[in-house]
Amino acid sequence: MTSNTPPVCNYEGSQYQKDFWEEGGRAYEDAAEEIALKRLLPGGGNFMLELGAGAGRNTPRYKNYKRIALVDYSRTQLEQARDRLGLSQRYVFVAADIYKLPFVDGRFDGATMIRTLHHMADPVLALSQVRRVIASGGVFILEFANKRNLKAIGRYLLGRQAWSPFNEEPVEFADLNFDFHPRAVRRYLDQAGFELAKQLTVSHFRAGFLKRRLPLKILTGLDALLQPTGALIQVSPSVFSKCIAVGDSGAAEEDHLFQCPVCGSLLPGGEMDQVCHECGRTWEYRDGIYDFRVDQK
Ligand SMILES: C[S@@+](CC[C@H](N)C(=O)[O-])C[C@H]1O[C@@H](n2cnc3c(N)ncnc32)[C@H](O)[C@@H]1O
Repeated sequence: MTSNTPPVCNYEGSQYQKDFWEEGGRAYEDAAEEIALKRLLPGGGNFMLELGAGAGRNTPRYKNYKRIALVDYSRTQLEQARDRLGLSQRYVFVAADIYKLPFVDGRFDGATMIRTLHHMADPVLALSQVRRVIASGGVFILEFANKRNLKAIGRYLLGRQAWSPFNEEPVEFADLNFDFHPRAVRRYLDQAGFELAKQLTVSHFRAGFLKRRLPLKILTGLDALLQPTGALIQVSPSVFSKCIAVGDSGAAEEDHLFQCPVCGSLLPGGEMDQVCHECGRTWEYRDGIYDFRVDQK
């Protein structure tokens, strides 16, 4: 089956969690993100959708939610998340494409998307899918990689970088890796049906020489102090936005979680293969992971 949505950046078989986070010298970025999330997450919620969850690095930070659905296109990332978090009623592991989410409208009251918009060639299409499955009034926390960061500005002004950090065009610096302009992301969010409630700038000191010289506590403390300046100006490499889903959401079908990502018909749910009685497709459930990847069929 072919697809008319943009290609997916493939993490299948990747050791991203180990290579980038655990052994990649990213303790500062991880701690800075933890602080930002604490500041943005609501006091409580029922059902959170984590988009591009990877190996579940952030999932334990969503402890105020009763249930969490982890979505990632890579089954092997979800296997790592499952092994880290364990199988329980609290977690639902779903291999799916963000452009084709297999959930009924308005099912979630919260969502996060961290370090994942980075891989979206069509951010408005992706955010519109996210908006569809969040109930009106739900909270969405989006992290994006900021092209208008101090390092990019400096390089551009010194003539060491061809692309301008000041225009709103996304920059694709490697295949399916995009940095976005903050103003453009605000526009995408608005187009998708989200209202910006709060914005934090994060990882201000993401530079090898600083991370090598300054203690982690000092760096994260300084980052924590600077994060609220994101309300005024965003020149850090990472930006966290807290948004509210506005406008009407379709009413969630009682007791239903899944819909067919191809024809949109309701699926039965339960820990078993999901058979679509409308279009005849079967979506596999194996070892605790639902597989709704359309292009794998
Ligand atoms: C950079 S990793 C971030 C993982 C995690 N959010 C974190 O911060 O540790 C990006 C994740 O997005 C997933 N991803 C990329 N494109 C996707 C898509 N179209 N649908 C679902 N997941 C996608 C990748 O498989 C990968 O696990």
